[in-house]
Amino acid sequence: MEISLTSTSLTDVKTECLVVGVPEGDSVEGTSAELDTLISDLIDSGDFKARSGSQMTLRNPQGLSAKRLVLLGVGKADSFDALAQNDAFVGLGKTLKGLPITEATLDLASLTRGDQGAQERLGYGLIWASYEYTTTKPKPTDDDAKVLGALTLIGSDSDQTHVTTGMTIGQGANVTRELGNLPGNTCTPRYLADQAVQLADRFSKLSCEVFDEDALEEIGMHCMLSVSHGSDEPARFIVLNYQGAKDADAKPKVLVGKGVTFDTGGISLKPSAAMDEMKFDMCGAATVMGCMQSICEMGLEANVIGVIAAVENMPSGRATKPGDVVKTLAGKTVEILNTDAEGRLVLCDALTYVERFNPEAVVDIATLTGACLIALGRHNTGLLSTDDQLADELYRIGRETGDPCWRLPIEAPYQKLLDSNFADMANIGGRDAGTITAACFLSRFTDKYRWAHLDIAGTAWFSGGKAKGASGRPVPLLVNWIRA
Ligand code: BES
Ligand code: MN
Ligand code: ZN
Repeated sequence: MEISLTSTSLTDVKTECLVVGVPEGDSVEGTSAELDTLISDLIDSGDFKARSGSQMTLRNPQGLSAKRLVLLGVGKADSFDALAQNDAFVGLGKTLKGLPITEATLDLASLTRGDQGAQERLGYGLIWASYEYTTTKPKPTDDDAKVLGALTLIGSDSDQTHVTTGMTIGQGANVTRELGNLPGNTCTPRYLADQAVQLADRFSKLSCEVFDEDALEEIGMHCMLSVSHGSDEPARFIVLNYQGAKDADAKPKVLVGKGVTFDTGGISLKPSAAMDEMKFDMCGAATVMGCMQSICEMGLEANVIGVIAAVENMPSGRATKPGDVVKTLAGKTVEILNTDAEGRLVLCDALTYVERFNPEAVVDIATLTGACLIALGRHNTGLLSTDDQLADELYRIGRETGDPCWRLPIEAPYQKLLDSNFADMANIGGRDAGTITAACFLSRFTDKYRWAHLDIAGTAWFSGGKAKGASGRPVPLLVNWIRA
């Protein structure tokens, strides 16, 4: 998307489509008398209500040079929060995408009230809305179709910077969505590794190392390997290293993503209903990829490591069985009582591996437990941490960016639920507190650094029906955490 600035007035600006925000309650008093009259009339007649997210499109608006006018309700200042902004700006993006236009002009002052976060979310929402999955479902070709390729902003240089930043985060989220949406027969561990190598090829500050199964054997990541024993697709362990800090030795922030490219449950086979959605079980890995792209594009001055543990979880004659005991990279033994609790088995070895980076902090991202959906639904990502300060930080940034998470506890009494008669620990803790016992399991491998776990089982994708597809969450939360 090309972006430029203009200082032409709302009345005189020549554009295929002018977009203006309309606040609720206040009498309209903008910078254009013609526009004020037009909007006041629509509000007085009851045709337009300025509730946040409401929209109206007019052709040939009277008194203006613009060919079209899109009004976007921006509600009242205090209710137009980050969540409302995300919804409204994605809605706006969908409308613009549907119009036969190649360019549009946005009045930033009325759309964002001069708020930096709102400007970033505007950029984010427009890019989010521009994504469409076409890889295995191409669109019918229409040579006359007009594609929105340029935006003109009525605003300042810094406004433009903020909108562009939001777009860069949006592009990262779209990378995450595309990887998530790809079917399991395309997006395999080897595919993820190829994509990571290609990402690193595009940026000089980013490098990539890929470990195959022989290498994993050598390192001692037997717990991770036990998950892919049943699969014909070989596992891959991927390390992306972004060196952006002025001080090359600055401690890195580390992101660790669960990359189960398909989760059948293994020998503890899942029921068939909606099993297709287990292609999304690599959304933690996809989040790492999306974040790394955004971080590179933004050129953040930080050192960041992105790690992906990629496997496919399948039943077969070679698959790990309930009761099998495996040894982790940390040297502890695990009794695998349920092969469907595989995410923690790949993550624990990855969490031990990243000790070597002497991290400033580690956040893992995983579609880890169905129980998280039961506890928090599809609105909040599950947040679990042994570090109150890190947890508070992620919680706050989640609220501020409209990509929220909610904390659940990790406490000693829950740890007992993982006791095993035959190994240092079992990989499941029973029906109770499933999200917490999963995090308790992970916490045993994180003693060497500050750590938080994000359970994105409820937030990484929209389930079922027409909206089925990856959401791109929690890319905004994590990119904003990295730059904080
Ligand atoms: N990938 C699933 C978790 C999941 C299920 C996410 C449904 C989103 C929707 C994970 O590997 C899993 O199967 N977890 C089990 C753990 C249980 C066996 C302790 C679960 O949640 O049922
Ligand atoms: Mn599973
Ligand atoms: Zn899984």
